[in-house]
Amino acid sequence: MKRIVVVAAMLALSAGAVVADQNQVKLTQAQMKETGKNAGALGAMIKGEKPYDQATVDAALAKFEDTAKKLPTLFPESSKGLKTDGDYSAGPKIWEDKAGFEQHIASYAKSVTDAKGKIKDVDTLKAELTVIGKQCGGCHETYRLKKG
Ligand code: HEC
Repeated sequence: MKRIVVVAAMLALSAGAVVADQNQVKLTQAQMKETGKNAGALGAMIKGEKPYDQATVDAALAKFEDTAKKLPTLFPESSKGLKTDGDYSAGPKIWEDKAGFEQHIASYAKSVTDAKGKIKDVDTLKAELTVIGKQCGGCHETYRLKKG
């Protein structure tokens, strides 16, 4: 009887862990989607679809910085191999090549810090976003999986 209770408790615990990790995957995805949205807003200004707006630029840089700070905690061991319900998920290399992944986070963070205070118009926005965008793409190329 005691044994059954213990087993039931363990099952409940592990079910709880799975839910928590899937929550982490959702939080990570939300963070990345927000980051993507901000990058999209900057892209629209570069393409001339929207007028240059300093507040949008500053908000985007703040979001990029926030993502840089959070990235080291967004992919805990417990979320390894879990998929999002969307088109992109975390790739296995995040856990297989932790040092490389952390290096990517560091160089991305540096590109964001370097851009601070430098963006004042469409030209400077274009220059800095090109540098930052390469960091986004560089990480995605190796550490992000596309569905299908
Ligand atoms: C150090 C690695 C890394 C950097 C840097 C990075 N990303 Fe990501 N990104 C990921 C991973 C891993 C995923 C897959 C996880 C997910 O989609 O939730 C992802 C997913 C995304 C997604 C898809 C979200 C979804 O699931 O629909 C977008 C959009 C995105 N990133 C935008 C950006 C932008 C914009 C930047 C740069 C400003 C950036 N990312 C920088 C690792 C990174």
